[in-house]
Amino acid sequence: MSIQDEVKKRKTFAIISHPDAGKTTMTERLLLLGNLIRSAGTVKGKKSGKFATSDWMEIEKQRGISVTSSVMNFPYDGFQVNILDTPGHEDFSEDTYRTLTAVDSVVMIIDATKGIESQTIKLFKVCRMRGIPIFTFINKLDREGREPLELLEEIEQVLDIETYPMNWPAGMGKRFLGIFDRHDEQFVQYNGNEEESYIPYKELNNSEHQELVSQSAYQSAHDELSLLDEAGDMFSLEKVLSGKQSPVFFGSALAPFGLQTFFDTFISMAPSPAPRKSTEGAILPDKEDFSGFIFKIQANMNPAHRDRVAFLRVCSGKFERGMSVKLARNNKLIKLSQSQQFVASSRGTIEEAYAGDIIGIYDPNAYQIGDTLIEGKDHFEYEELPKFPPEIFKKVTAKNVMKSKQYKKGIEQLVQEGAIQLYYRYRTDSYILGAVGELQYDVFKYRMKNEYNVEVILESIGERVPRWLKEEQVDESLFDEQNLLVRDREGNYLVLFRNDFARRWFEEKHTSIELIDLLESN
Ligand code: G4P
Repeated sequence: MSIQDEVKKRKTFAIISHPDAGKTTMTERLLLLGNLIRSAGTVKGKKSGKFATSDWMEIEKQRGISVTSSVMNFPYDGFQVNILDTPGHEDFSEDTYRTLTAVDSVVMIIDATKGIESQTIKLFKVCRMRGIPIFTFINKLDREGREPLELLEEIEQVLDIETYPMNWPAGMGKRFLGIFDRHDEQFVQYNGNEEESYIPYKELNNSEHQELVSQSAYQSAHDELSLLDEAGDMFSLEKVLSGKQSPVFFGSALAPFGLQTFFDTFISMAPSPAPRKSTEGAILPDKEDFSGFIFKIQANMNPAHRDRVAFLRVCSGKFERGMSVKLARNNKLIKLSQSQQFVASSRGTIEEAYAGDIIGIYDPNAYQIGDTLIEGKDHFEYEELPKFPPEIFKKVTAKNVMKSKQYKKGIEQLVQEGAIQLYYRYRTDSYILGAVGELQYDVFKYRMKNEYNVEVILESIGERVPRWLKEEQVDESLFDEQNLLVRDREGNYLVLFRNDFARRWFEEKHTSIELIDLLESN
């Protein structure tokens, strides 16, 4: 098969959601559809014990599990499906955001009883700034939830994206009858847990339709549907592919109901790998020479064997195990002999891969996040990965001042790896760390002790709202402990506002100062 045909087969996506919306359940169902697992409950036993961040063994176990389930791939209907996990809960970190730079589309799960939640908003913003197509699945229809029209309105208003319902539910919870499939113009009846009957709802004389019409949930959904047909937005694949319109599906991942239709439609519409921007212009995915970039580095927590795995998104050509590639940052040649592919609960060696595929390569301490690897004579680097704003900040110092050399070296390396962000306090230059999730601090502290033999003291300065400032607008007298002025590693200035209220108050008072939000401006 030609490289071009292989690329067309690839569908690489991530599932984003707020914790508990149903990401794990959905992932498992998709793996079942792909015949990758035989029963539900195999992906991760996250309910099998309370997770305590202070217990290192638990962290390790958690991270061990998250390595293997970070990427799942399986053949489906002639396609090669790659699902990337976006860790949530305590595991939420910059990696969660960065994963979105390695996918071609996204499935956003929304809990019908809750609507849009905070983590979904953050992840959605990253997708939008990158123009990634977003498919929405409104989950838990088997429960009493919010009105479908209200949910659509909320998506449009809060996320500022057009929606197009691909199907429409009749009732919810106990009154849930099924969904109107707008594409095939049939009503899919919910019969407990199997989708069985398909009733053409536009054939008004059809006896099954007649029978259903007597039920009020069916009747009112039918009316809403006519309204949507007349007054709603038109479906536009072009808008979907540019991230301006989100096709919305209703269903239940647990029942399961509406999942197969959702996935079939998603797979047929989701984009295959597209050309990627580089310093030498767009690189085509079917280009002969292999290239890719590293979006995540996972250090093994076991100090006895400190191996690290770098996650690489293949962007062009064909990866073959044992091939030699160039690390674009320093022109060093590296042989890719140890490579892994991840399948649900195990790792296997991978022999070849194409654009869209994600592979894990052994990292001999050579890689950095964002690195480009290339085969052949060309020289280019893929676009720099965007920076993401941390939320939790802490002052850091070494317990033993005598260890300042190792302390600096450890911080330097962990920061470079992208495990945590480093800031310097204005004037004093003391260190302040920033992370997206609390777990990153536990990992940082542990690794400083085990890998660099330095005990660190972390002093929380709480959750902060960071905003970047232009250098010429920096006025030291406007800031204090509450709204802290710091510099990042590139020398840019930012303010760590006490909270969003303080940020807004500042913005209203100093209208001439432009505050930059990284999630909006990348
Ligand atoms: P997450 O990965 O996004 O955090 O969510 P997860 O799939 O773990 O689902 C969170 C809870 O919601 C689970 O219940 C799960 O069974 C339930 N759930 C997921 N999809 C549906 C659905 O379509 N309908 C209904 N009614 N529930 C759904 P739990 O009680 O927290 O966990 P468990 O004991 O069932 O595992």
